[in-house]
Amino acid sequence: MPDIILLVNCALKSHIVWESAIADQLTFVQHRNKGDNNPNVTFKFTEQNLKLIDEILKRYPPQYKKAAVMPVLDVGQRQHGYTSIGVMNEVARLLEMPPMRVYEVATFYTMYNREPVGKYFVQLCTTTPCQLGGCGSDKIVKAITEHLGITPGHTTEDGLFTFVEVECLGACVNAPMVQINDDYYEDLTPESMKSLLTALKESATAAEAGQTVKVPAPGPLSGRDTCENSAGLTNLIEPVWDPATMMRKDGALDEQTQ
Ligand code: FES
Repeated sequence: MPDIILLVNCALKSHIVWESAIADQLTFVQHRNKGDNNPNVTFKFTEQNLKLIDEILKRYPPQYKKAAVMPVLDVGQRQHGYTSIGVMNEVARLLEMPPMRVYEVATFYTMYNREPVGKYFVQLCTTTPCQLGGCGSDKIVKAITEHLGITPGHTTEDGLFTFVEVECLGACVNAPMVQINDDYYEDLTPESMKSLLTALKESATAAEAGQTVKVPAPGPLSGRDTCENSAGLTNLIEPVWDPATMMRKDGALDEQTQ
């Protein structure tokens, strides 16, 4: 009998953990009206962004304005900080689309944040190549969690960092990697990840005091320039093909046949 109780307890616990994990993820895909994110809170683009949207619309035939929905949503998110329902409704109005079509796009693509995020949006890739490459993304998840005191799907109390796990960001060759706002940081180790977060926090604090703090440049944090082999070149090591010395000169064939 105790075994049965234990089993039921375990099942209940894992169900609760599973439900809370799912609830965290759903925040990003389902809309729930909130004080500052409901259809009554309207959104307007700035004059400058309206000019930018005019430029974007020139890339599409006038009868297919709705094709611009993704870049225009992106402009809205950058202005407002996240893709609220007010942003989506304004995009629908501008592009003469049914609002539901805009909601479908914004809830399908994870690049649109349906809730406010921190000043630094930390998106760590945990797909298989990043999980296996370098030190492995599991160690980076642990480093971020320890350093920021939050688990994936949460924002720090000071509003500086939001941390989420994401799928492949296309920089697998420099695994493990993280995207912070628009920048990629690659070849991560737990130490370089923590130093980066520290530098970003110091930079935010210094900016408030009108000072600047150096933040590591985006790209590989291991010292390599891009994705070159750390052991040096293993192919393409022959001399670069040079047309000036390696091509037959004009008239050379005539000389041979004489
Ligand atoms: S698996 Fe991480 S960038 Fe591709």
